[in-house]
Amino acid sequence: MSQTAPRPERRHPKNQLNDLTGREWLRFTRTWFVHDPPPRSREELEHPAKYPEGLVTDFLRFFTKAGEWVLDPFCGVGSTLVAAARSGRSGVGIELVPAFAAVARRRVAAEAAGTRQLVAEGDAVRLPEVLGRLRQAHPEVPARFDFTMTSPPYWDMLSKSRGGVESVHKRRAKRGLATTYSDHPDDLGNRPDYGSFLAALGEVFRHVYALTRPGRYLVVVAQNMRTPAGAVQPFAWDLVRELTERGPWVFHGERIWCQDSKPLGIWGYPKVFVPNYHHHYCLIFYKPEGGRDP
Ligand SMILES: C[S@@+](CC[C@H](N)C(=O)[O-])C[C@H]1O[C@@H](n2cnc3c(N)ncnc32)[C@H](O)[C@@H]1O
Repeated sequence: MSQTAPRPERRHPKNQLNDLTGREWLRFTRTWFVHDPPPRSREELEHPAKYPEGLVTDFLRFFTKAGEWVLDPFCGVGSTLVAAARSGRSGVGIELVPAFAAVARRRVAAEAAGTRQLVAEGDAVRLPEVLGRLRQAHPEVPARFDFTMTSPPYWDMLSKSRGGVESVHKRRAKRGLATTYSDHPDDLGNRPDYGSFLAALGEVFRHVYALTRPGRYLVVVAQNMRTPAGAVQPFAWDLVRELTERGPWVFHGERIWCQDSKPLGIWGYPKVFVPNYHHHYCLIFYKPEGGRDP
């Protein structure tokens, strides 16, 4: 009996977005996934809220082709750039806090082979100026990026007492690790009111829009959260409204990142329902072909 080897899946000739097969493309379109991050290195632990590189890699593989350029305006300790380096993409990260930028630079230096990974210190609200300075030293930084993936501060979540955050804080404080990003006045986690925090994010992502190739995407990882008073602040949903009603982005839906290994906190028992937030939204925004700059 003759055996025929399965035919390798071909990429669609009209696929301008990524290097995936049809099957791989389809798999990514499911709107939820479970991702439990691996343990962090000592250096990574210096940052109170990084996201996992493996999660970013899946998004980079869907929203870019190898060799393209990725931007992260809130790059923290450089997880987006590490994932970019590992998957053959180049990246630019902006970070306000010099100590985190230094960790990001050290991490990407160890991974960047064959790609460019650049970290600039600065305020994302002033993104065009920060990139302008970076471009003077590195003329290879493109005028338009192919994709942006980022996670901004979740307003004052790290500094105000909310169920769940306190226990993480206590554990970090005991080990002498930072529990907030900084006390810098430009740190969006230190904005005194929620409205001005959202407006500042709107400004950042309008800059990102102008810096994005038409027909390409932005992914923002965000979460709804409890207020110290016990209500829910729907930050992820407010952000969609901010970027689409006042900003020029088109919302293309979400993928929900479920965390399945976090311990459950007993917050409201036995009186009221209090959610254990063990998921984040990966919010997907699109700049249409022919989309005009704001
Ligand atoms: C959620 S963390 C991002 C973590 C990053 N995804 C990682 O995995 O390392 C948000 C980052 O935004 C930075 N940040 C806060 N305000 C900023 C601003 N105005 N401009 C640039 N970065 C800022 C914080 O210092 C923090 O590192």
